[in-house]
Amino acid sequence: MKLYIKTFGCQMNDRDSEALCGLFLDRGYILVSEPEDADVILVNTCSVREHAENRAISFLGSLKKITNYKLQITNYRFQITDYKMVIGLVGCMAKNRGEELFKKMSHLDLIIGPANFDKVPYYIEKIRKEGVRIIDIEDKERKEDFYSSSFRVRKDYAYVVISTGCSNYCSYCIVPFVRGPLRLRNPEDIIDEVKRNVKLGIKKITLLGQNVNDYQYRLSAEGSTRGSTRGGFASGEGFASGEGSASGGQITDYKLQIIDFVKLLRMIEKIEGIEKIDFVTSHPKNTSRELFELMANSQKIKKHLHLPFQSGSDRILKLMNRGYTKEDYLNLVNDYKEIVRGTLSTDIIVGFPTETEEDFFETKDVLERVRFKYAYIFKYSPRPHTSAFKLEDDVPLKEKERRHKILLDSQRKISLEFINEK
Ligand code: SAH
Ligand code: SF4
Ligand code: F3S
Repeated sequence: MKLYIKTFGCQMNDRDSEALCGLFLDRGYILVSEPEDADVILVNTCSVREHAENRAISFLGSLKKITNYKLQITNYRFQITDYKMVIGLVGCMAKNRGEELFKKMSHLDLIIGPANFDKVPYYIEKIRKEGVRIIDIEDKERKEDFYSSSFRVRKDYAYVVISTGCSNYCSYCIVPFVRGPLRLRNPEDIIDEVKRNVKLGIKKITLLGQNVNDYQYRLSAEGSTRGSTRGGFASGEGFASGEGSASGGQITDYKLQIIDFVKLLRMIEKIEGIEKIDFVTSHPKNTSRELFELMANSQKIKKHLHLPFQSGSDRILKLMNRGYTKEDYLNLVNDYKEIVRGTLSTDIIVGFPTETEEDFFETKDVLERVRFKYAYIFKYSPRPHTSAFKLEDDVPLKEKERRHKILLDSQRKISLEFINEK
């Protein structure tokens, strides 16, 4: 059997597609490079901006022709009437628009959200046998089995997921609604996966989480992570700031019961055979000096930080529910530069509702003062479910484009300086 997979979206999706491929390869499938040649087509999608959804929808539309074509050819040549290519829409857009697209696109046999990826091979088999159509967009904790395959696209580095979902609810962002709330992978499972990568000869890993600093894994009383309470704590909640002391041989340091991101990094650093570690993404509101100190002293952690600031205007940052000011951000960057002496990159949104020229200049000011090695600059796109969706999208597209171009031009010059400095 032949599988074709197409991936839209972020690194999290790249890793998910890789793990999905692994599940099929372990069942004897082979991968093909053209959808026309496949028995199973999976389209892993993104909903972060409308444009990302439109691209996936137009690709899904183009597959309708392939199913018709394939059926004709097979019927003509082999007189097979029950041949069926199975097409699955999977991932974030399946969660966001699955029900609507299930009705509209009758050539889609399977629609499945990111929480249930471990079930994809089972559903495909059921569809092939019973000729049914299936939709499963329930949100729940992912099964650890999903990450079990040893298939890796690249031999030089690998992604390792440390958490799924997000509970930060930035007002513009759909991720918490399509990926669910923050859920943490067990540290032992993460370490096992890193070790499996080492066994495959991979020495470089990138840890993935929507905000890696939200990683706060609570240990069970016995100190084992297996079977302990799963789930994370939003920053400022529960144990995040627990101070304690050891007295009379009794451990009263509550911090010992929590594995936070810095501790997790320290554990991963110790794994023999791992040479380079990096991670995305860090949210400015809870990126700590402790992390910077670890980065400065580590031989293995890359001295680069992806630190999205989104906007330089305090008013807009507040409307975005980001939890920091321009000054907080610039202070954090100063600490980073002083302690780590590394490079930075960022994400920026232009044209958020009510953004004025003055607000925009605050953003441009941050871009020019920090000097990022590279920056991803986006035009605001209203997303369903989000709280900003209720605000009028009042910055005209032309104006968004103008601001976008100004920042791109500015960043291009800065990025060139980095290239020329080398
Ligand atoms: N978890 C990461 C990235 C999330 S999505 C973080 O918190 O930084 C990647 C980027 O897409 C975001 O940083 C943001 O710049 C952009 N983005 C998210 N929602 C958007 C929207 N509705 N319109 C435009 N850009 C958006
Ligand atoms: Fe979206 Fe904010 Fe979570 Fe990033 S931290 S995924 S921007 S809600
Ligand atoms: Fe990633 Fe897009 Fe989903 S950015 S988490 S694939 S909405």
